[in-house]
Amino acid sequence: MFDITKIREEFPILTKTVNGKPLIYFDNGATAQKPKQVIDAITNYYTNQNSNIHRGVHTLSREITIAYEEARKIIQKHLNAEHANEIIFTKGTTESINLVAHCFGKINIEAGDEIIITQMEHHSNIVPWQLLCEEKKAILKFIPINQEGELMLEELPKLITSKTKLIAFTHISNTLGTINPVKEIIHTIRSLSNAAILVDGAQAVPHIQPNVQDLDCDFYVFSGHKLFGPTGVGILYGKEEWLTKFPPYQSGGGTIKTVMLQKTEFADLPLKLEAGTPNIEGGIGLAEAIKYVTEIGFENIQKQEDDLLKYITKKLLEIDGLKIYGTSKHKTAVISFNVGSIHPFDIGTLLDKYGIAIRSGHHCTQPIWEFYNVPGTIRASLSFYNTIEEIDSFVEAIKKSIRLLS
Ligand code: ALA
Repeated sequence: MFDITKIREEFPILTKTVNGKPLIYFDNGATAQKPKQVIDAITNYYTNQNSNIHRGVHTLSREITIAYEEARKIIQKHLNAEHANEIIFTKGTTESINLVAHCFGKINIEAGDEIIITQMEHHSNIVPWQLLCEEKKAILKFIPINQEGELMLEELPKLITSKTKLIAFTHISNTLGTINPVKEIIHTIRSLSNAAILVDGAQAVPHIQPNVQDLDCDFYVFSGHKLFGPTGVGILYGKEEWLTKFPPYQSGGGTIKTVMLQKTEFADLPLKLEAGTPNIEGGIGLAEAIKYVTEIGFENIQKQEDDLLKYITKKLLEIDGLKIYGTSKHKTAVISFNVGSIHPFDIGTLLDKYGIAIRSGHHCTQPIWEFYNVPGTIRASLSFYNTIEEIDSFVEAIKKSIRLLS
């Protein structure tokens, strides 16, 4: 049973008032709120468990090492990865992509090689590939998007050549909400090329449980904080055959087997790729967040979010001059829009006065706005704990803001 009242009670921040009004949090694409279960796990870690991992023989250290490795297994199971050592803890999606660009680039990219990304990527899935291509004199190509904000997948076979070494694309667009047909894309790539495939799951994991073996991607990356877990922790899933070949990304404590003054022998996976003391409470908190969403059930999450998406789309389209960007039939509850020529920051600032949190601007996807020829939008990104009543208040506040700004 999906009990929205009970669910909202599990998120302490949702009872907060902002500027004298009940908080309406529609900025879940930027970061999701945390249930008490996750907050409690982090508090418990610092209250009862704090110690370093993989280093000590004392009880606390042994216990927290077991708990941290248990968290890795929970994440492995959630993604259906074959091995626990294919799960690498990072700082977040951005670091996961940088790690792959660095390590894969070092062993696999030469002058004249090609990398393909898409026009709808977050800057984090563009800039690392630009830098790699610049360094190696490789070529960066793009799958374009259409007016609905969908990938023009008919272009993909034309872009793939014998020089294509890696193809990276997002599972769900943070800006347009489009859900890309990941399985179909990977099937096309595999039938034409040996290129490695990276999927950016940052915006997908709060809505979908990815099955990396079924998808058959080489790398799948995401952040903890968008999945109702803590900030500063993220995951790189990589097939063992790739990760074992990777050179260290960063080096130092934790990554080694033995160090002589002139030479180091590196540890096996996953430690080889996890330099320094990690974000221990991050790993513990992320595993707890996964337990939490699993208990709610992704079917229930998707049903609630689909209902919210249908309702907010209908209500917003009743407003004169309002244009939605990202109109794919396959999308999550993310709505990017503008009203006439009103600047998104002006609406964002007024909405804040009503206690409403949205994001305004380019949402770290400037190439999308180059395509649509607008500087940015207002973005409402909803989660399963949002409600129809909140949407009504949001739409009323938008209407009031338009009256004030016109
Ligand atoms: N990538 C995050 C967003 O879309 C921060 O807002």
